[in-house]
Amino acid sequence: MSTFHYASIRLVFYFEPYFRPFVNSMVILVTGGAGYIGSHTAVELLSQGHKVVVLDDLSNACEESLSRVERICNRKVHFVHGNVCDPNCLTSLFSRFKFDAVIHFAGCKAVGESVRKPLDYYHNNVTGSLFLLEAMKKFDVKKFVFSSSATIYGQKAPVPYVETLKTGGALNPYGSSKWMVEQILIDAAKADSELSVAMLRYFNPIGAHPSGLIGEDPLGVPNNLLPFIAQVAVGKREVLSVFGDDYETPDGTCIRDYLHVVDLAEGHVKALNWLMGHKGAEAFNLGTGTGFSVLDVVKAFEAASGVVIPYQVVSRRSGDLAVFWADATKAKAVLGWEAKRTLNDMMIDTWRWQSLNPNGYADT
Ligand code: UFG
Repeated sequence: MSTFHYASIRLVFYFEPYFRPFVNSMVILVTGGAGYIGSHTAVELLSQGHKVVVLDDLSNACEESLSRVERICNRKVHFVHGNVCDPNCLTSLFSRFKFDAVIHFAGCKAVGESVRKPLDYYHNNVTGSLFLLEAMKKFDVKKFVFSSSATIYGQKAPVPYVETLKTGGALNPYGSSKWMVEQILIDAAKADSELSVAMLRYFNPIGAHPSGLIGEDPLGVPNNLLPFIAQVAVGKREVLSVFGDDYETPDGTCIRDYLHVVDLAEGHVKALNWLMGHKGAEAFNLGTGTGFSVLDVVKAFEAASGVVIPYQVVSRRSGDLAVFWADATKAKAVLGWEAKRTLNDMMIDTWRWQSLNPNGYADT
């Protein structure tokens, strides 16, 4: 950790009273908080009056996202440059802040890359989570929100996916690493009756904050559909490749449950509130419960942006499932959360972000 970060931590203590402006405010560690979902969650936490400490190694994120979060909220984020796989960094962090809860986003998430670099994925995602849980145990922090994925339902699960389905059997190390961490959390919560864990199984988060200040800023060629479409729209990519139109779906293209990243971020705040009154580990699907095809999304983006998206149909992408979407009943019943924003909202906000920041945070 650099001198600068020590200095910023000392400042935090000095000004501590100013960072607790709300009665029920908590101090939350957000690992990976400079990334796409993490930065949107930081906005929601700050706007609820919580103090946010971000730990991020910036391997797939940019510190500028946190300056933008501060602009949106007019409140400070405490940034620590470091990695969850570094136990010394965690010890130093947990010694300086008394966290009420941890929200764990930090990890690698590219499916294809995970097949090429399985050890990196297991190390970052599984070992990193273990180190974090050990630090929490040592410093008596008992609330944990985990960034899980619909991919843990595996290849053969019937749709819609419901939390009671058997999990496991993911086709790639990324999915397996998420599943392994869920198993670790379930066992950890069985062994420690004080531990409360929410495992949030995301479907397909897209969109951006309506301010246009923060959004998804992938490194290199985007793997995911929406960032690719958005980059075609601003002229950074020529044409969208649609991976297969011969699936058993109405238009032949794959169907997914796309949800607005701000809805997803709000889901983390709801989960955090729920954790305060509960013990044990629980899984929740965060999705809308509705599926849209690749071509539905292309049309919706064109309608929202007024830009025509040239596309070509190419062969199927290995490992893609034809259809899946969430049964999100449990999140509504237990957390009081449901996705409110429409596909059109997701497209409008994606377009605002991408057109204002054609090169992402690099435009700053
Ligand atoms: N697609 C294209 N062209 C592209 C990119 C994607 O046609 O350039 C298609 C895919 O084939 C798929 C759909 O768009 O049918 C969505 O693909 P994404 O890559 O955006 O999302 P996935 O559903 O494949 O994966 C996402 C996350 C994973 C997570 C998974 C399940 O990226 O991390 O959902 O939760 F594991």
